[in-house]
Amino acid sequence: MPDSRLELLGERHLAGVAAMFDDEDVLRYTRIPNPVPPGWEREWLRLYEEGRRDGTREAFAVVDAQDGSFLGLGLAFGIDREGRQLELGYVVAPGARGRGVATRTLELLTEWAFLELDALRIELWISTGNEASKRVAANVGYRYEGTLRSFHFKQGIRDDFEVWSRLSSDPESLS
Ligand SMILES: CC(C)(COP(=O)(O)OP(=O)(O)OC[C@H]1O[C@@H](n2cnc3c(N)ncnc32)[C@H](O)[C@@H]1OP(=O)(O)O)[C@@H](O)C(=O)NCCC(=O)NCCS
Repeated sequence: MPDSRLELLGERHLAGVAAMFDDEDVLRYTRIPNPVPPGWEREWLRLYEEGRRDGTREAFAVVDAQDGSFLGLGLAFGIDREGRQLELGYVVAPGARGRGVATRTLELLTEWAFLELDALRIELWISTGNEASKRVAANVGYRYEGTLRSFHFKQGIRDDFEVWSRLSSDPESLS
């Protein structure tokens, strides 16, 4: 298991965020606009800072616990405080993939959502072709619920999305 931790996303992480915008999988599988407008990382941080203030979103940088280097992002959005549910997302820098960083990130995000937000239901929306992300979801005890067909997610692009969820009442959440 990689030795990584989450810290609130801030200005100091933006170079690491922008460096991921060239990656084919990031452009294909996330809601980040393609092509990425210049300086978009700043606009995007502002959006999450606004969400942090009104309680609807949160963004974390995933950093190496030893040297603090940037490894990726852990995201929470659509936070519904009254309904006690939200969606989570994760992106790992290409150079840090394949050694469990996303799995660890989703574990930490899930723990945070249950403990800090008192969530009852957490959703992941994953493109049907994103095999690595589906493995991450399964690794952390999320369950496949169904597929949304031809969902419009950005700039005229539609895709089929699998919805995975974990509930606070699931056995793996109670152990
Ligand atoms: C998906 C992503 C987050 C995975 O990050 P990661 O740190 O490499 O993930 P992990 O190392 O924790 O686990 C990856 C799992 O997928 C598997 N995997 C990797 N590439 C795969 C592929 N092409 N097909 C099938 N499985 C694959 C690995 O073997 C591993 O499975 P295991 O734990 O059962 O051995 C990363 O590829 C990424 O940032 N992609 C672009 C953004 C994205 O897709 N985000 C998710 C949106 S829902």
